[in-house]
Amino acid sequence: MKIAPSILSADYVNLQKDIEVVDAAGAEFLHIDVMDGSFVPAISYGPGWVKAIRPITKMTLDVHLMVENPERYVETFVAAGADIVGVHVEATQHIHRALQLIKNAGAKAEVVINPGTPVEAIKPVLYMVDQVLVMTVNPGFGGQKFLPETLKKITQLDQLKQTEGYDFDIEVDGGVKDNTIKDCAAAGATVAVAGSYVFDAADPAAMVQTLKDATK
Ligand code: DX5
Ligand code: ZN
Repeated sequence: MKIAPSILSADYVNLQKDIEVVDAAGAEFLHIDVMDGSFVPAISYGPGWVKAIRPITKMTLDVHLMVENPERYVETFVAAGADIVGVHVEATQHIHRALQLIKNAGAKAEVVINPGTPVEAIKPVLYMVDQVLVMTVNPGFGGQKFLPETLKKITQLDQLKQTEGYDFDIEVDGGVKDNTIKDCAAAGATVAVAGSYVFDAADPAAMVQTLKDATK
Protein backbone atom coordinates (compact mmCIF):
# COMPACT_ATOMS: atom_id res chain seq x y z
CA MET A 1 0.00 0.00 0.00
CA LYS A 2 1.34 3.42 -0.98
CA ILE A 3 0.76 6.21 1.56
CA ALA A 4 -0.36 9.68 0.42
CA PRO A 5 -0.32 12.25 3.24
CA SER A 6 -2.74 15.10 2.51
CA ILE A 7 -1.35 18.58 3.14
CA LEU A 8 -4.89 19.78 3.89
CA SER A 9 -4.12 19.05 7.54
CA ALA A 10 -0.49 20.24 7.44
CA ASP A 11 0.90 23.44 8.94
CA TYR A 12 0.64 25.92 6.03
CA VAL A 13 3.14 28.32 7.57
CA ASN A 14 5.72 25.55 7.89
CA LEU A 15 4.63 23.51 4.90
CA GLN A 16 8.11 22.68 3.63
CA LYS A 17 9.05 21.15 6.98
CA ASP A 18 5.89 19.01 7.06
CA ILE A 19 6.48 17.83 3.48
CA GLU A 20 10.11 16.93 4.23
CA VAL A 21 9.06 14.95 7.30
CA VAL A 22 6.60 12.69 5.44
CA ASP A 23 8.99 12.39 2.48
CA ALA A 24 11.77 11.16 4.78
CA ALA A 25 9.30 8.80 6.46
CA GLY A 26 8.82 7.00 3.13
CA ALA A 27 5.45 8.32 1.94
CA GLU A 28 5.27 7.67 -1.80
CA PHE A 29 2.65 10.28 -2.75
CA LEU A 30 1.85 13.81 -1.56
CA HIS A 31 -1.90 14.45 -1.80
CA ILE A 32 -2.96 18.00 -2.69
CA ASP A 33 -6.68 18.81 -2.21
CA VAL A 34 -7.94 21.61 -4.44
CA MET A 35 -11.37 22.97 -3.40
CA ASP A 36 -13.29 25.67 -5.25
CA GLY A 37 -16.02 26.71 -2.78
CA SER A 38 -18.63 25.44 -5.25
CA PHE A 39 -18.25 21.68 -5.82
CA VAL A 40 -17.44 21.56 -2.10
CA PRO A 41 -18.09 24.36 0.42
CA ALA A 42 -14.48 25.01 1.36
CA ILE A 43 -11.79 26.89 -0.56
CA SER A 44 -8.24 25.56 -0.25
CA TYR A 45 -5.46 26.33 -2.73
CA GLY A 46 -4.66 26.35 -6.44
CA PRO A 47 -1.95 25.59 -9.01
CA GLY A 48 0.49 28.09 -7.47
CA TRP A 49 0.86 25.75 -4.51
CA VAL A 50 1.67 22.79 -6.76
CA LYS A 51 4.28 24.90 -8.55
CA ALA A 52 5.83 25.95 -5.23
CA ILE A 53 5.90 22.40 -3.85
CA ARG A 54 7.27 20.73 -7.03
CA PRO A 55 10.97 21.66 -6.52
CA ILE A 56 11.13 20.63 -2.85
CA THR A 57 10.17 16.94 -3.18
CA LYS A 58 10.45 13.97 -5.53
CA MET A 59 7.27 12.42 -4.11
CA THR A 60 4.51 11.79 -6.62
CA LEU A 61 2.26 14.87 -6.55
CA ASP A 62 -1.29 13.52 -6.41
CA VAL A 63 -3.68 16.41 -7.12
CA HIS A 64 -7.34 15.88 -6.15
CA LEU A 65 -9.54 18.46 -7.89
CA MET A 66 -12.78 19.12 -5.98
CA VAL A 67 -13.71 21.69 -8.60
CA GLU A 68 -16.70 22.22 -10.94
CA ASN A 69 -15.88 21.63 -14.61
CA PRO A 70 -12.30 20.57 -13.86
CA GLU A 71 -11.48 20.32 -17.58
CA ARG A 72 -10.94 24.12 -17.39
CA TYR A 73 -7.92 23.63 -15.13
CA VAL A 74 -6.31 20.23 -15.66
CA GLU A 75 -3.63 21.44 -18.08
CA THR A 76 -2.63 24.24 -15.69
CA PHE A 77 -2.13 21.73 -12.88
CA VAL A 78 -0.04 19.43 -15.08
CA ALA A 79 2.11 22.40 -16.15
CA ALA A 80 2.54 23.29 -12.46
CA GLY A 81 4.06 19.86 -11.80
CA ALA A 82 1.23 17.46 -10.93
CA ASP A 83 2.08 13.80 -11.62
CA ILE A 84 -1.51 12.57 -11.15
CA VAL A 85 -4.64 14.67 -11.61
CA GLY A 86 -7.96 13.41 -10.21
CA VAL A 87 -11.33 14.67 -11.48
CA HIS A 88 -14.76 13.91 -10.00
CA VAL A 89 -17.28 12.26 -12.29
CA GLU A 90 -19.97 14.33 -10.49
CA ALA A 91 -18.26 17.63 -11.38
CA THR A 92 -18.37 17.49 -15.17
CA GLN A 93 -20.62 16.63 -18.10
CA HIS A 94 -17.47 15.57 -19.92
CA ILE A 95 -15.50 13.12 -17.81
CA HIS A 96 -13.97 11.39 -20.83
CA ARG A 97 -12.70 14.68 -22.21
CA ALA A 98 -11.32 15.75 -18.83
CA LEU A 99 -9.36 12.49 -18.51
CA GLN A 100 -8.13 12.73 -22.09
CA LEU A 101 -6.85 16.27 -21.46
CA ILE A 102 -4.88 15.08 -18.43
CA LYS A 103 -3.27 12.24 -20.39
CA ASN A 104 -2.51 14.44 -23.39
CA ALA A 105 -0.84 16.93 -21.07
CA GLY A 106 1.48 14.12 -19.90
CA ALA A 107 0.17 13.26 -16.42
CA LYS A 108 -1.59 10.22 -15.01
CA ALA A 109 -5.38 10.45 -15.13
CA GLU A 110 -7.57 9.62 -12.17
CA VAL A 111 -11.36 9.45 -11.94
CA VAL A 112 -12.95 10.12 -8.52
CA ILE A 113 -16.33 8.98 -7.13
CA ASN A 114 -18.22 10.35 -4.13
CA PRO A 115 -19.72 7.97 -1.54
CA GLY A 116 -23.15 8.39 -3.19
CA THR A 117 -21.93 7.51 -6.69
CA PRO A 118 -21.92 3.89 -7.90
CA VAL A 119 -19.01 2.25 -9.75
CA GLU A 120 -21.35 1.91 -12.74
CA ALA A 121 -21.05 5.68 -13.31
CA ILE A 122 -17.35 5.34 -14.24
CA LYS A 123 -17.34 1.97 -16.04
CA PRO A 124 -17.09 3.55 -19.51
CA VAL A 125 -13.82 5.32 -18.62
CA LEU A 126 -12.09 2.61 -16.58
CA TYR A 127 -10.17 1.43 -19.64
CA MET A 128 -8.33 4.77 -19.85
CA VAL A 129 -7.49 5.67 -16.24
CA ASP A 130 -4.30 5.17 -14.26
CA GLN A 131 -6.01 5.50 -10.88
CA VAL A 132 -9.53 5.42 -9.41
CA LEU A 133 -10.19 7.37 -6.20
CA VAL A 134 -13.00 5.98 -4.07
CA MET A 135 -14.01 8.71 -1.61
CA THR A 136 -14.49 7.09 1.78
CA VAL A 137 -16.04 10.28 3.21
CA ASN A 138 -18.03 13.05 1.52
CA PRO A 139 -15.41 15.42 0.11
CA GLY A 140 -14.77 18.88 1.50
CA PHE A 141 -13.18 18.53 4.93
CA GLY A 142 -10.50 16.63 6.78
CA GLY A 143 -11.15 14.70 9.98
CA GLN A 144 -14.41 12.97 9.03
CA LYS A 145 -15.43 9.41 9.89
CA PHE A 146 -14.73 6.59 7.42
CA LEU A 147 -17.87 5.27 5.66
CA PRO A 148 -17.61 1.43 5.64
CA GLU A 149 -20.26 1.04 2.88
CA THR A 150 -17.67 2.34 0.42
CA LEU A 151 -15.60 -0.85 0.86
CA LYS A 152 -18.01 -2.70 -1.45
CA LYS A 153 -17.05 -0.37 -4.28
CA ILE A 154 -13.34 -1.07 -3.73
CA THR A 155 -14.04 -4.81 -3.98
CA GLN A 156 -16.13 -4.25 -7.11
CA LEU A 157 -13.33 -2.25 -8.75
CA ASP A 158 -10.74 -4.86 -7.78
CA GLN A 159 -12.90 -7.53 -9.41
CA LEU A 160 -13.23 -5.44 -12.57
CA LYS A 161 -9.43 -5.18 -12.72
CA GLN A 162 -9.26 -8.96 -12.77
CA THR A 163 -12.16 -9.70 -15.13
CA GLU A 164 -11.42 -6.88 -17.61
CA GLY A 165 -7.61 -6.86 -17.32
CA TYR A 166 -7.48 -3.21 -16.19
CA ASP A 167 -4.33 -1.92 -14.56
CA PHE A 168 -5.31 1.07 -12.40
CA ASP A 169 -4.40 1.84 -8.80
CA ILE A 170 -7.31 2.07 -6.36
CA GLU A 171 -6.94 5.01 -3.96
CA VAL A 172 -9.01 5.69 -0.84
CA ASP A 173 -9.46 9.12 0.74
CA GLY A 174 -11.14 10.10 4.00
CA GLY A 175 -11.08 8.74 7.53
CA VAL A 176 -8.02 6.58 6.88
CA LYS A 177 -6.40 5.43 10.13
CA ASP A 178 -4.46 2.34 11.28
CA ASN A 179 -7.67 0.26 11.54
CA THR A 180 -9.61 1.46 8.46
CA ILE A 181 -6.55 1.15 6.18
CA LYS A 182 -6.53 -2.61 6.85
CA ASP A 183 -10.09 -3.01 5.56
CA CYS A 184 -9.25 -0.92 2.49
CA ALA A 185 -6.15 -2.99 1.71
CA ALA A 186 -8.10 -6.24 2.14
CA ALA A 187 -10.74 -4.97 -0.31
CA GLY A 188 -8.08 -4.17 -2.94
CA ALA A 189 -7.03 -0.55 -2.37
CA THR A 190 -3.41 0.18 -3.34
CA VAL A 191 -3.01 3.87 -2.31
CA ALA A 192 -4.27 5.45 0.94
CA VAL A 193 -4.64 9.18 1.57
CA ALA A 194 -4.34 10.29 5.18
CA GLY A 195 -4.62 13.89 6.35
CA SER A 196 -5.57 14.42 9.98
CA TYR A 197 -4.24 11.03 11.09
CA VAL A 198 -0.75 12.04 9.96
CA PHE A 199 -0.54 15.81 10.44
CA ASP A 200 -2.65 16.27 13.59
CA ALA A 201 -0.27 13.89 15.38
CA ALA A 202 2.76 15.04 17.35
CA ASP A 203 4.99 12.79 15.23
CA PRO A 204 3.76 12.64 11.59
CA ALA A 205 6.64 10.37 10.52
CA ALA A 206 5.61 7.76 13.07
CA MET A 207 2.05 7.86 11.74
CA VAL A 208 3.23 7.21 8.18
CA GLN A 209 5.17 4.23 9.51
CA THR A 210 2.14 2.97 11.48
CA LEU A 211 0.01 3.07 8.32
CA LYS A 212 2.69 1.17 6.38
CA ASP A 213 3.02 -1.44 9.13
CA ALA A 214 -0.77 -1.88 9.32
CA THR A 215 -0.91 -3.25 5.78
CA LYS A 216 2.27 -5.35 5.76
C1 DX5 B 1 -11.44 15.51 1.87
C2 DX5 B 1 -10.10 15.42 1.20
C3 DX5 B 1 -9.14 14.56 1.89
C4 DX5 B 1 -8.78 14.98 3.29
C5 DX5 B 1 -8.72 13.71 4.08
O1 DX5 B 1 -12.32 16.16 1.04
O2 DX5 B 1 -10.26 14.92 -0.12
O3 DX5 B 1 -7.98 14.32 1.12
O4 DX5 B 1 -7.56 15.66 3.39
O5 DX5 B 1 -8.65 14.02 5.41
P1 DX5 B 1 -8.68 12.92 6.58
O6 DX5 B 1 -7.59 11.94 6.28
O7 DX5 B 1 -8.47 13.73 7.80
O8 DX5 B 1 -10.04 12.26 6.51
ZN1 ZN C 1 -8.40 14.32 -1.21
